[in-house]
Amino acid sequence: MKPFSQFFIFLVIVLATSYIDAFTRNDFPEDFLFGAATSAYQWEGAADEDGRTPSVWDTFSHSYDTGNGDVACDGYHQYKEDVKLMADMGLEAFRFSISWTRLIPNGRGPINPKGLLFYKNLIKELRSHGIEPHVTLYHYDLPQSLEDEYGGWINRKIIEDFTAFADVCFREFGDDVKLWTTINEATIFAIASYGEGLTPPGHCSPNKFINCSTGNSSTEPYLAGHNMLLAHASSSKLYRLKYKSKQRGSIGLSIFAFGLSPYTNSKDDEIATQRAKDFLFGWMLKPLVFGDYPSEMKRTLGSRLPVFSEEESEQVKGSSDFVGIIHYTTFYVTNRASASIFPIMNQGFFKDMGVYMISTGNSSLFEWEATPWGLEGVLEHLKQSYNNPPIYILENGKPMKHDSMLQDTPRVEYIQGYIGAVLNAIKNGSDTRGYFVWSMIDVYELLSGYTTSFGMYYVNFSDPGRKRSPKLSASWYSGFLNGTIDVSSQDTIQLQRKFSGSSSF
Ligand code: NOJ
Repeated sequence: MKPFSQFFIFLVIVLATSYIDAFTRNDFPEDFLFGAATSAYQWEGAADEDGRTPSVWDTFSHSYDTGNGDVACDGYHQYKEDVKLMADMGLEAFRFSISWTRLIPNGRGPINPKGLLFYKNLIKELRSHGIEPHVTLYHYDLPQSLEDEYGGWINRKIIEDFTAFADVCFREFGDDVKLWTTINEATIFAIASYGEGLTPPGHCSPNKFINCSTGNSSTEPYLAGHNMLLAHASSSKLYRLKYKSKQRGSIGLSIFAFGLSPYTNSKDDEIATQRAKDFLFGWMLKPLVFGDYPSEMKRTLGSRLPVFSEEESEQVKGSSDFVGIIHYTTFYVTNRASASIFPIMNQGFFKDMGVYMISTGNSSLFEWEATPWGLEGVLEHLKQSYNNPPIYILENGKPMKHDSMLQDTPRVEYIQGYIGAVLNAIKNGSDTRGYFVWSMIDVYELLSGYTTSFGMYYVNFSDPGRKRSPKLSASWYSGFLNGTIDVSSQDTIQLQRKFSGSSSF
């Protein structure tokens, strides 16, 4: 290679890395929100205290040996200490969810005064520390009573019950909550819970990998997804009619979004990638923005895909003030027929999607490869194909083996890279308004229980007091947020050196 070409390549690499790496908090708009997240079942514990009743997640976790959320981080009792940690860290926002069965133990009907008080206190505590609450209404924890009564999300009755639950939340908490997400990662929730049996309530067709007690993987994900869109739209309509003018908040739906990139530059792979985007993003975003499902999905699924009436389509269209994005990694997409990322996912949604997804690195279920460019691609795609909606990145973070180390340098690198990608996207015109690390502290993990964790605070789950200790990532995020870390400089390395002297569980 000629010296000039070598120099050119070197320059490109330097420019590419420094473009992503050189930034501070001040490069982001002032009203951009940097936060961290948890969810009720994963953080609160106190599963059968003060009137809470079981959700499908309690039932699901108790039937496997990955542990359960009975105690989790004990956030229900330690929320004041945790809010103090957040404030010390300089968090601008905290995303948490409301446990439906803590607030309304029967799923519908009377409110539990102790549950109500807990969330009022939590929100008050956050506000008094200047931390913006971002509330998710539904995070995998359907009241078990509603699952037993009519099958939960696969029945249209859920629309009325969910809207009534949302109504209580808006009425009781809405004066102090400006950001509402109705349903957490609705896309993958419908797929994993109603097609793959991987997450609660664990429905799937009979298969040789997972023994689900009920389900139909070729229809239920689409039915559940449809009811989620309608329940979201119905509560959004209610919010706008009854509360918005006074409370002045925004309401959105969140979807899970892998980065997707063609495996080769062939036409076939490009088409396959577009197809994957239609299935994985368009499934929910097309109805939310344009009022109907992607034609590619309609064509492939035929009568398995429910149909919106004209009135429903009008109600769903425009019902999200923002799009919540849950992003962890990227896959290459190729036109090879069949299959999916995980072998069990060969029966429903992923089979219908009909493309092959190839890991970008060492990604496995528990070890996501950091691919900030993939998130930039998602944000660019949403800008171009969905009228540049306001976006919150509601989850992004790195799983590592629990009990591994407080010096979680790979997590710092991961978060740093992704925040840089968000900044790039904003500079390119994306209307992204916030970024939340998953998770604020180690929690009971959705797929892996207590074996892996994403937290910036370590939690000793063998300690009855659930002692918390800051990891390097907590110090880094704090330094970034209060402006003492300039990402382009040596600050991170210095922080790492200082930290290694003081790290112990
Ligand atoms: C997805 C879910 O929202 C959350 O519950 C889970 O723990 C994380 N992302 C990590 O998988």
